[in-house]
Amino acid sequence: MSYQLLKGKKGIVFGALNADSIAWKVAERAHEEGASMVLTNTVVALRMGDTVKLGERIGCPVIGADATSVEDLQNLFVQTMEKLGGKIDFILHSIGMSPNVRKGRHYSDLDYVMLTKTLDISAVSFHKTLQTARKLDALNEWGSVVALSYVAAQRTFYGYNDMADAKALLESIARSFGYIYGRERRVRINTISQSPTITTAGSGVKGFDRLLDFSERMSPLGNATGDECADYCITLFSDLTRKVTMQNLFHDGGFSGMGMSQRALEQYEKGMEGPFDDLKSQADDHFFD
Ligand SMILES: NC(=O)c1ccc[n+]([C@@H]2O[C@H](COP(=O)([O-])OP(=O)(O)OC[C@H]3O[C@@H](n4cnc5c(N)ncnc54)[C@H](O)[C@@H]3O)[C@@H](O)[C@H]2O)c1
Repeated sequence: MSYQLLKGKKGIVFGALNADSIAWKVAERAHEEGASMVLTNTVVALRMGDTVKLGERIGCPVIGADATSVEDLQNLFVQTMEKLGGKIDFILHSIGMSPNVRKGRHYSDLDYVMLTKTLDISAVSFHKTLQTARKLDALNEWGSVVALSYVAAQRTFYGYNDMADAKALLESIARSFGYIYGRERRVRINTISQSPTITTAGSGVKGFDRLLDFSERMSPLGNATGDECADYCITLFSDLTRKVTMQNLFHDGGFSGMGMSQRALEQYEKGMEGPFDDLKSQADDHFFD
C-alpha cells in the first residue's frame, strides 16, 4: 500500500545489487511512495548484478561509484543533483564487505590490510558520503540519512568477525556526524540495526543459516524481513520522523531486548542430548569458540 510519504522527495540509494538486497527493497518502496532516486553501486557490481534492470523498471538513473573513493562520491552527488533537478532529501547507505570474512580468516588471525579494507568499505565510506554531501551542500534541510547496521556492533556474535568492528564504527559515525549536520542543516542521521536477512552479503557470514534460526527463535516477533526493513527506512526518510537523529534503531523483532527465550532453550536442550562427548575429541585451536 502506498501512502505517498515521500512524494516530491529525491534520494540516493547505495547497494541494490540484486532482488535480495535490502537496498533493492528500499528503492522499490521509495518509488511506490513517490520519491525520485538515483541508484548507485560499484562499476563491477553494476556489471555483475541487476541494479541497471531495477533502474529501468522504476525509472531511476544509475550512476557507478565506489563509496571508498571521494572523487567518485563527488561525481555521484553532482550528477545526481543535475539528473534529479536539485538537492536531495534522503540517502540510504547499504554497503558492507569484509575480505577477511570472504577469505575465511579467523578473528584472532586477521589480515590487517584486509581489515583496513573492511573498515573503509563498510564504515569509513559512510563518513566519506556525509562529508562529501556536506561540502557540496547536496542535502536539503530536514534531509534524512540512514545506514544499515547489525547488533554485533554492540554484543559479540561469533563468526561476524571484523564486520562487528566496522559496524561499531558505522554507528559512531552516525552519532558524531549527526551532531554536526543536525546543528548546521537539520539533517538527521541514523543507523538501523536489522535482523539477519538472506542476501549476498548476509550469506557470507559463518553459520548464517543457524544464526537465522537462533535469531528467529529468540525474537518475540520473529526476524524482520528485508521488505519490513524497507518499510522502516521509508518512515525515517519521511517527514513523520523529523526529530529522530543520532540513533541506532533496532529493527529486529525484539531480539536485542532478549536474554533467553523458551523456543531457543528448547532447541538447546535437544542439542544437549546429542553427541557432545564426540565433539570434545575433535579439539582444535578454536574448540571453545
Ligand atoms: N543481510 C543481513 O543479514 C544484514 C543484517 C544487518 C545489516 N545488514 C547490512 O545491510 C547492508 C546491505 O547488505 P545486504 O544484506 O542487502 O547485502 P548485499 O550484498 O545485497 O548488499 C551489499 C552491497 O554493498 C555494495 N558494495 C560493496 N562494496 C562497495 C563499495 N566499495 N562501494 C559501493 N558499494 C559497495 C555491494 O555491491 C552490494 O550492493 C550492509 O551494510 C549489511 O552489512 C545486512
